[in-house]
Amino acid sequence: MTRVLIVGGGGREHALAWACAQDHGVDILCAPGNGGTASIAKNVRVEVTDAAAVAALAVEEHADLVVVGPDAAAAAGVADACLRRGIAVFGPTAAAARIESSKSFAKRLMDEAGIPTARWTSGGAGDRGRLRAFIAELGGACVIKADGLALGKGVVVCDTASDAERALAACLDERRFGDAGMTVVVEERLAGPEVSVFGLCDGTRLRMLHTARDHKRLQDGDRGPNTGGMGAVSPSPDVDDALLDATITAVLQPCVDALKDRGTSFVGCLYAGLMLTDAGPRVLEFNARFGDPEAQVLLPLLDESALELLVACARGRLEPGRARFRADTALGVVTATAGYPGDVRTGDIVTGLDALDGDVLVFHGGTRRSDDGTLRTSGGRVLCVVALGADVEAARSHAYENLARVRFEGMQYRRDIGAAVTAFSAASP
Ligand code: AMP
Ligand code: GLY
Repeated sequence: MTRVLIVGGGGREHALAWACAQDHGVDILCAPGNGGTASIAKNVRVEVTDAAAVAALAVEEHADLVVVGPDAAAAAGVADACLRRGIAVFGPTAAAARIESSKSFAKRLMDEAGIPTARWTSGGAGDRGRLRAFIAELGGACVIKADGLALGKGVVVCDTASDAERALAACLDERRFGDAGMTVVVEERLAGPEVSVFGLCDGTRLRMLHTARDHKRLQDGDRGPNTGGMGAVSPSPDVDDALLDATITAVLQPCVDALKDRGTSFVGCLYAGLMLTDAGPRVLEFNARFGDPEAQVLLPLLDESALELLVACARGRLEPGRARFRADTALGVVTATAGYPGDVRTGDIVTGLDALDGDVLVFHGGTRRSDDGTLRTSGGRVLCVVALGADVEAARSHAYENLARVRFEGMQYRRDIGAAVTAFSAASP
């Protein structure tokens, strides 16, 4: 019997729990989990950023493996605390997670390792003059990013110098992102389709997963505010084998090598957000974890044991190359509560899940079971309906047919997940 503790409570963690549960003889705990994980795992309440509490729980529950889901848990040192207690961990130490938790650290590492990325500078309130001069050099077309973790909201794409000035003020004067925004990265604005690439890593070697395309804007046609992700498709229709190989050689492996050389080897899922520009792929960001909702479409396509892969990463004995995947396409549509990504209402009853076709997967994010067993909304992104098909079209029609049977008050979702890439839109919402 293997006991796995999955840290986090979103759709990504439900998908990780589901993937681990495909093996026989696995006992799963989710901390804190959600209304969906409750049916395949034991949910335990814990604060995911309380590293000592997570490690104590892992010891108490005799976990053989801890899987760190969210960026905040990685940055808070959950892996470090568990490793100190002698428990195997899939997920980076806080030092390795800086590739995500500090954008200026990531940019510096990329420059030093020769990884292609947008031109940039960084600074704080005392560096206004230099930041402005760089914005002027770019003609105002730039992107301003809070240096630290800001729940995916710390990035502003600007058309003009006055847009940029407002974004600087939001970070540096109004402190909208708290300490995370006291240093900003200013970068050149790039254009092109976006794609996410994922590699499992054991500190040295990479085993590549499929690519995926996320849909970050709230509304159809890539309009409205940025969200955590409103739906995803895997594999991404924009990437062929040659491009993926080039990305491994030019982006992911150099990043893994650079982190190892610094004495902060990366164990976990290394996720690069790329923009496919006319001049070639450029890294927009690195993440130190699976994407959400990308995990929900990647993991169901995996044609080998997810648990064995996670354990191989944690034990430093990963077989490099490509992971085995089914030939299908997976498409997931996220349903969110009214108000998302702002203040959301919660507590509404979710119905219709028992009417879904047997081959459709539902990964819960913001749900909980109340004492009487009813499923209720408890957060912004409520659930992700995932269908597999021979191609994007087949997966999409199957996902939407089933999604139409799900109901809760104020439910919102995009109608165009997986539709042909829309024209690049830099316009702010
Ligand atoms: P990030 O959190 O860094 O991935 O940024 C969020 C989103 O902002 C990305 O998915 C892109 O759509 C956009 N973005 C980030 N950096 C750039 C850039 N240098 N040029 C154009 N768009 C960008
Ligand atoms: N879906 C984007 C992310 O997980 O960062």
